[in-house]
Amino acid sequence: MQRARPERPWERVRNASEPERPAAKQQEREVMPRPADAPFLLACRNRPASHVPVWFMRQAGRSLPEYRAIRGTGSILDAVRDPGLATEVTLQPVRRYGVDAAILYSDIVVPVAAVGFGVDVVAGVGPVVERPFRDAADLDRLGAFDPEVHCPWVQETVRAVVDELGDTPLIGFAGAPFTVASYLVEGGPSRTLARTKALMLGDPKLWAQLLDRLAAIAAAALQAQVEAGAAAVQLFDSWAGTLSPDLYERAVLPASARVFAGLADLGVPAIHFGVTTGELLPLLAKAGAQVVGVDWRVPLDEARQRLGPDVAVQGNLDPAVCLAPWPAVEERARDVLARNGGRPGHIFNLGHGVLPETDPAVLERLVELVHAWEVGA
Ligand code: CP3
Repeated sequence: MQRARPERPWERVRNASEPERPAAKQQEREVMPRPADAPFLLACRNRPASHVPVWFMRQAGRSLPEYRAIRGTGSILDAVRDPGLATEVTLQPVRRYGVDAAILYSDIVVPVAAVGFGVDVVAGVGPVVERPFRDAADLDRLGAFDPEVHCPWVQETVRAVVDELGDTPLIGFAGAPFTVASYLVEGGPSRTLARTKALMLGDPKLWAQLLDRLAAIAAAALQAQVEAGAAAVQLFDSWAGTLSPDLYERAVLPASARVFAGLADLGVPAIHFGVTTGELLPLLAKAGAQVVGVDWRVPLDEARQRLGPDVAVQGNLDPAVCLAPWPAVEERARDVLARNGGRPGHIFNLGHGVLPETDPAVLERLVELVHAWEVGA
């Protein structure tokens, strides 16, 4: 039986021959009411907010005892198929820390696993691919992705989370084409991404086709999450920093730009994140994001300079700092806040995900510290 699908506003507005719509009509296109004045969303728009908003990458799961208590065993790919569980795990850090945004409990390989590429997540390892991507025939294993057909439970979780969150925005996310491709080509986590780069350089046509498929998948995943109520999205290109700027711009940026272009009509801000991307920061913005995530290797004031005044920034406390005694955490966090130089458009975060051994009490104090920071200082 064909599933009834909600109307997709971006399909309706894509017709280029249609005249520009007035602002009131644009409002009508919004699928869900959004807490537009939430500090996190204001900061994404580079506008002043009542306080510096803060959330933590990988805040869901990881270090929380209440997460371990309900998580059980088994792959995260099974856990996310249970909207009740995924909703609870998404909400836990919001309740405990009072962060300014929730991030969906899911993983970057959920869509490719859902279309049947043969991906599992192995405890202590990460995503593992049964038959890695090798040649053109493997493109057939990445067919058209329809979130309503392949992973309706993700949208169900988004709706349930948004119902519970009130004015706190939910961030939807997807893996960027390059980072997801790296898992499919390497077959699992890799330090060098040697096979990935060999494919990129050795068979540019096949590489472009692979990234094209993955861009379509990421765009569809994000569109579905926004339609279900996510108020912002983040594209994780975690390993993009392994590339030189010229290679990134030639072989990766066009695909990520297509993902952002696919979101343009939805009216939600987009964050673009990777680690060791100091040399890539302007290119991450150029791909089409309003916010660029900065890891701890580049001081925030320097990142600001590289990005210019129109781009909001997210970051950038070293996650390892959170394992140090509180006075050191406080000193480093204040340094991040001060380096922002009082500008609007700063979302406080870690430079990468929360380390599993982090004491939740430290993150609680960190949120208090950020919220107490005088805006404009
Ligand atoms: O860390 C990042 O760079 C963020 C992007 C990213 C995610 N998953 C997003 C995510 C990456 C690179 C992955 C791949 C992945 N998936 C890894 C890393 C492997 C490597 O190459 O080093 C791992 C270990 C997984 C499996 C996974 N994902 C687990 C076991 C969990 C739940 C518990 C945990 O350890 O966090 C996830 C959840 C996950 N992956 C979230 C996100 C944004 C959920 C939201 C959140 O925790 O805030």
